[in-house]
Amino acid sequence: MFPAPACFGLTIRGIPVCGSGQCAKCPGGTCYERRCMAEPLKVAIAGLGRMGAVHAFHAAELERETGACRVVAVADLDRERAQRMAKELGGSARVFGSIEELAPASVCDAVVVVTPTENHREHATAMLRAGKRVLLEKPLTGTLEADEEFTQELDRAYPHGLMLGFQRRFDEPLIYARELMQSGLIGRVFKIYSALEDSNPAPNGYKSGGVLPDMSVHNVDEVLWLTGRMPERALTVGSRLYSHALTTCVEDFDDALLCLWFGNDLLAQVQVGRNHVSGYRVETVLFGEEGQIHVGRFEQQPLDVLVEAYGRRGGQEKLASRNFRMRAYGRELPEFVDRFGPAYKAELAAFIECCRRNAPFPVTHTDGLRAQRVIAAGMRATITSEQGAEVNQPARPAAC
Ligand SMILES: NC(=O)c1ccc[n+]([C@@H]2O[C@H](COP(=O)([O-])OP(=O)(O)OC[C@H]3O[C@@H](n4cnc5c(N)ncnc54)[C@H](O)[C@@H]3O)[C@@H](O)[C@H]2O)c1
Repeated sequence: MFPAPACFGLTIRGIPVCGSGQCAKCPGGTCYERRCMAEPLKVAIAGLGRMGAVHAFHAAELERETGACRVVAVADLDRERAQRMAKELGGSARVFGSIEELAPASVCDAVVVVTPTENHREHATAMLRAGKRVLLEKPLTGTLEADEEFTQELDRAYPHGLMLGFQRRFDEPLIYARELMQSGLIGRVFKIYSALEDSNPAPNGYKSGGVLPDMSVHNVDEVLWLTGRMPERALTVGSRLYSHALTTCVEDFDDALLCLWFGNDLLAQVQVGRNHVSGYRVETVLFGEEGQIHVGRFEQQPLDVLVEAYGRRGGQEKLASRNFRMRAYGRELPEFVDRFGPAYKAELAAFIECCRRNAPFPVTHTDGLRAQRVIAAGMRATITSEQGAEVNQPARPAAC
């Protein structure tokens, strides 16, 4: 058993990425001084679609750059896809035709599970039962009921078995903004706006439980992580505006606004959608009594993420300004990799590090359940256009 909360003192380019939520720069946290395993961690990647390919690529890079891991296996229902991936990674990874085949094979110490959300519980459980530690892509299961059940099972049988893929916790611009906020730079924060908008519909065949569990789970976790608080009330305004008609993926909305009330002193607005045709939009604004902090500003330059802080009206200079250059991979990758590539890699590095030190993970199933509880509340109170109050005005006024 490990003490909790855990701070394992990991830093990325000098920035602490402690997931305990209890220490800004590790003071007061319980740093782990466990001895690392001598051998590289044997890692498998299961599910090699849009996101799995990115994890596989990063794992191979970490193998070359740090020697901390070795990619020993890849698995996908599409065996040819797995074979192509193994070849691209250098040819030494064993190929499996499914995660069900991989689980009993005893070839790895740890696995990254990147299969469709509806299979997360079943696939993660198969690997945990086989004694592996698991990095599971978000969301935990996609529904509140299944999250609650799965969390109980994990708490009972594998309390330190699973890390959840909330890569924003490892994103340098957001970590910097959180530090600025925690330093008191903009005073008490009373509102947070967090937006995530895809430029395309969900891919054909993609299985999503809706835009809130699929997309806003990132923003909701971000808000809870930034504030260290849980909201008391939630409400969603949802619409089907454009992109839902262009895909076979069926979702409740293609645009939604989730409002979260934290008592009377803090409001969060989460905006998600799949209609931002000009490009992937990821923006967060923290509104404080003494100013505001912006993270990201859409300018069709996905690789530059500007973090800026402004003081009160009339201030001559910005309180802070720093540009974070994201990574150009030089190959065709999904748009979310433009913005979060380094964060995905840092997340994977943290997972590997925790496995090697036998330390608890900084982000777990509990964080996934917490975010899903918020989302489920928002989904219970949904307003669609039919539920809006009728506007008492002729639809086509002669002149406005
Ligand atoms: N963190 C992020 O920003 C982010 C971004 C995209 C997707 N995701 C998450 O990643 C997961 C996968 O999404 P995706 O877009 O990559 O989906 P995808 O459909 O592109 O890929 C899923 C892959 O899993 C494989 N698969 C299915 N069943 C399998 C089995 N039994 N054994 C082995 N492989 C199996 C499929 O063949 C497919 O290649 C989802 O849960 C999604 O929410 C996270």
